[in-house]
Amino acid sequence: MINTQGRQPDLPMRGVPQPTRDEVLNLPRVHISRHPVMAHKMTRLRDKATPPPEFYQLVKEIGALLAYEATESLALEERLIETPLQSTRGCRLAGGIGVTPILRAGLGLADGFREVIPDVQVWHLGLRRDERTLQALEYYNQLPHRVELQVCYAVDPMLATGGSAIDAINILKKRGVPRLCYVGIIAAPYGLHKLTQTHPDVDIYIATLDDALNDYGYIVPGLGDAGDRQFGTF
Ligand code: PRP
Ligand code: URA
Repeated sequence: MINTQGRQPDLPMRGVPQPTRDEVLNLPRVHISRHPVMAHKMTRLRDKATPPPEFYQLVKEIGALLAYEATESLALEERLIETPLQSTRGCRLAGGIGVTPILRAGLGLADGFREVIPDVQVWHLGLRRDERTLQALEYYNQLPHRVELQVCYAVDPMLATGGSAIDAINILKKRGVPRLCYVGIIAAPYGLHKLTQTHPDVDIYIATLDDALNDYGYIVPGLGDAGDRQFGTF
């Protein structure tokens, strides 16, 4: 990348120390998928030859797998029902479940969540990362005023510097959500470490942990720009 003066622009992550993968592998509250179906889908997702419609479909399918893993400890409440033969005790998920897609790229993941739990509330939150400073900027907020949830999942495929995830959790905490989880597809050690340091009370579910951020703040090996690849905006 060359600017108009013919000099290299400042590279925001150049020279910034980053933890290694091994240093963050066993952080508390971090769940990294070990499912072989996830590994299979991840390989197709990363491939640069995978076109946007298939990429979006894969994000949705991975979102459904992550939803299954991330909802393992949800609270249930008892319910009495009638089968065609007799009455029996059953259960249903207690309280409401919220999903906050961090726009744009979180939309496919939120769709995957809805396949698993169709009656989730979807709270849209728009954050855009300034590619020069890597700071996240809020540009859209459709969070309701009434919070009646047992948990809300902030979903976004890429946890790079962690700035977007940290800001999203800050915004959700200010709304008074009682329990928050972050769900992502690929995390970099740098962002994962920052998110756990800033919000140690948040459970984190990811499909995989990559090696590092490059000088531009992109995850490597990664998959490129998750928003552009879902929506075909190259
Ligand atoms: C991407 C990605 C995350 C963010 C991650 O979104 O979907 O939201 O960058 O980077 P960070 O951890 O360094 O904050 P982007 O801002 O490119 O917007 P988009 O979803 O509209 O493509
Ligand atoms: N956002 C993306 O979409 N990809 C990255 O690698 C980093 C941030």
